[in-house]
Amino acid sequence: MLTSWEDPVSNARRPADATPPEPMLAAATRQAMEPSKARVAQLPVPEPHVEVEQGITGLESVEFGAARITVDDKQMINCRADLNQLVPFKYKWAWQKYLDACANHWMPQEINMTADLALWRRPDGLSADERLIIKRNLGFFASADSLVANNLVLAVYRHITNPECRQYLLRQAFEEALHTHAYQYCVESLGLDEAEVFNMYREVPAIHDKAAWAMRFTESLGDPDFHTGTPQNDQRLLRDLIAFYIVFEGIFFYVGFVQVLSMGRRNKMTGCAEQFQYILRDESMHMNFGIDVINQIKIENPHLWTAAFQQEIIEMLREAVLLETRYAADSMPRGVLGLNAKMFEEYLQFIANRRCAQIGLPEQYPGTNNPFPWMSELMDLKKEKNFFETRVTEYQTGGALNWD
Ligand SMILES: [Fe+2]
Ligand SMILES: [Fe+2]
Repeated sequence: MLTSWEDPVSNARRPADATPPEPMLAAATRQAMEPSKARVAQLPVPEPHVEVEQGITGLESVEFGAARITVDDKQMINCRADLNQLVPFKYKWAWQKYLDACANHWMPQEINMTADLALWRRPDGLSADERLIIKRNLGFFASADSLVANNLVLAVYRHITNPECRQYLLRQAFEEALHTHAYQYCVESLGLDEAEVFNMYREVPAIHDKAAWAMRFTESLGDPDFHTGTPQNDQRLLRDLIAFYIVFEGIFFYVGFVQVLSMGRRNKMTGCAEQFQYILRDESMHMNFGIDVINQIKIENPHLWTAAFQQEIIEMLREAVLLETRYAADSMPRGVLGLNAKMFEEYLQFIANRRCAQIGLPEQYPGTNNPFPWMSELMDLKKEKNFFETRVTEYQTGGALNWD
């Protein structure tokens, strides 16, 4: 544990018996700000955690007169510098992603669902297989985005010790709320049985297994007694980040995106497809942010990226491809919309190769091609007119101020 006087945030981890430095406040002011000593004396004294060197959370008492923060003080994990100061930026990419995400702001109720409702109500409007695609994907995503949001807010946020990344995490958390809202809005607009949809992750095996897989990686980090600061615990954090950003948001979402967006491309359920299109744009940014965070943690902590750890991650990714291939078969038991199970298997192997390359692992499925090249076009969508041509306005808000 570092307790040198040079440490600008030593208040955060100073042993209970150490004498704090005198802040430069008038004694009367200080007394007025301090909690009653009698009341403090009655409070239980928490056991100090001596087994791991903890980072800070941003909720420590403010040290008056502490040295100013510099870029070199900042770290992705286990940072020891005040987390309540956004600037100076160290990770400018994180701030840029925050700005880009805000510029892409959208709301589910802005999307017209009238044509979807009319098609859904018409007995011959959709085949049974097409209805299954809509219901299964609303069922999976409705709980999946809540799970991602809970993991972000209750597990990941505490351990990412960088203010500009936290700023993006706060934006991402709001976007996850928007996504859950979007699925609820689709369910409500179509008059679906909300209990059936929102319980699918507990009642449909292929959906349950994906959620249960992810749960393994969030529950340890959500433990209030979990702290980073040892190689083993830092690897647990890195594993959770890879599980959620690379597997959950980077693989488990993609069968659903392809299926629903394929319906939109055929002019069916265009409102649902448009919701999914904006969600895909957000999700691809979430994943790219996660990739940058993961790679930055690797750069700052190369000792974590051992051969054994890499092998463990490769096995996680291969397991995820199998689970998602099973989900494709369950949500689309027969070929429909020009899609079939074999194409999904190849697509999942293709994107798993990309995910491996993005975090510096060898590709696992050599020779696979992308059977859905139009997906890349959708993910890159920023200012272009709406893909389904249900709207032709540029869908960005909050453009940057320009004083020139
Ligand atoms: Fe989401
Ligand atoms: Fe997300």
